[in-house]
Amino acid sequence: MYMYPPRLVHVRPELDRMAAYIPGESLETFSTRTGIPEQQLIKLNSNESPYGPAPQVLKALSDHSNYNNYPDTESTALRQALSEYTGVDRRSIVISHGSNELINLLWHIFLSVGDNIICCPPTFSLYTFITTFCGAYVLEVPRTMDYEVDVEGILMALTPETKMIVLCSPNNPTGNPICEDDVLALLETGRIIVVDEAYVEFSDQPGGLAHLVEKHKNLIVMRTFSKWAGLAGLRIGYGIFPEWIVTYMRRAQCPFEVNVAGHLAAIETLKHLDYTLDKVQLIKAERERLFTLLSSFSYLEPITSQGNFILSRVCEEDVKMERIRTTVEAHGILLRYFHHPYLSNFMRVTVGLPEHTDLLQHALSKIEAW
Ligand SMILES: Cc1ncc(COP(=O)(O)O)c(C=O)c1O
Repeated sequence: MYMYPPRLVHVRPELDRMAAYIPGESLETFSTRTGIPEQQLIKLNSNESPYGPAPQVLKALSDHSNYNNYPDTESTALRQALSEYTGVDRRSIVISHGSNELINLLWHIFLSVGDNIICCPPTFSLYTFITTFCGAYVLEVPRTMDYEVDVEGILMALTPETKMIVLCSPNNPTGNPICEDDVLALLETGRIIVVDEAYVEFSDQPGGLAHLVEKHKNLIVMRTFSKWAGLAGLRIGYGIFPEWIVTYMRRAQCPFEVNVAGHLAAIETLKHLDYTLDKVQLIKAERERLFTLLSSFSYLEPITSQGNFILSRVCEEDVKMERIRTTVEAHGILLRYFHHPYLSNFMRVTVGLPEHTDLLQHALSKIEAW
């Protein structure tokens, strides 16, 4: 067997300062770790939909007979359907293998070694991982006490090497949307402004900021079918871009990245929108109930959310985070805990079915009773 001489093989140095991204634990891993069978678990750690896709989506997937052929790499039918859904020109839409792929491509298109992006923590941590992968740096401008983006702080942090400002709206994990005026102010900087709208369907402004893209050559809006449409497993995302960036995205993207099943599922979801939007309404109603429930525990301070999740601060002087985690896990419930120092005493709960909320209530009440 041929062995590579180790001293001749070099990994790019930025990989050595890059920790691996830690996603929410999967059902399989959790079940192996705890010994609780998968069918008894309640997964509230990755903001997936508890309802799954529309029945018509499942039927279209099983009726399809051409899985032996590559997908349409132009995604013509899906871009047309999305143009009708979003109200933007189909030429400004790029389909991707989940919105994670958009982040990966965009960052690699704009960031060279030594560049930086501005992020507003606490926020989605993948932005930082990919930035490091590109050999670039994150300038963190923390959110204000009420989790708003600090526009003044961002303007002061800008350097000549700042290529992008990334804004998540509604923000994962705090759940608050960004206001349009703040985005308009930041567009004035001339940097690329990326608005990640993975959760926009659950917000009070489900149309988001897509309408602004045609007027601004430095604005990008990212979306996904993973959350509201119950298609996280099929990996379908899309972005709305100024046309000059579309050209580079298409150049950078490998052909056939978005699979046939994902295309079919997304098109069928858009054909039967009422079904899925009804489920979004159910999730929003359950979010209110979950918020009331979380507020009723003296050791939790939940934050109002426009996503399909609620972040709560754990008042450590009353109850230790570890105690919550152990008790909740013993009931087979997966929640999201964090490694970022801003979030060490926070937990995030995905809004699930009403019976999931009931079981969480039962588990959390055991903690009070201790
Ligand atoms: C803010 C945000 N953006 C993007 C993603 C990635 O979503 P996708 O499944 O489309 O890759 C997530 C997933 O959790 C997210 O929370």
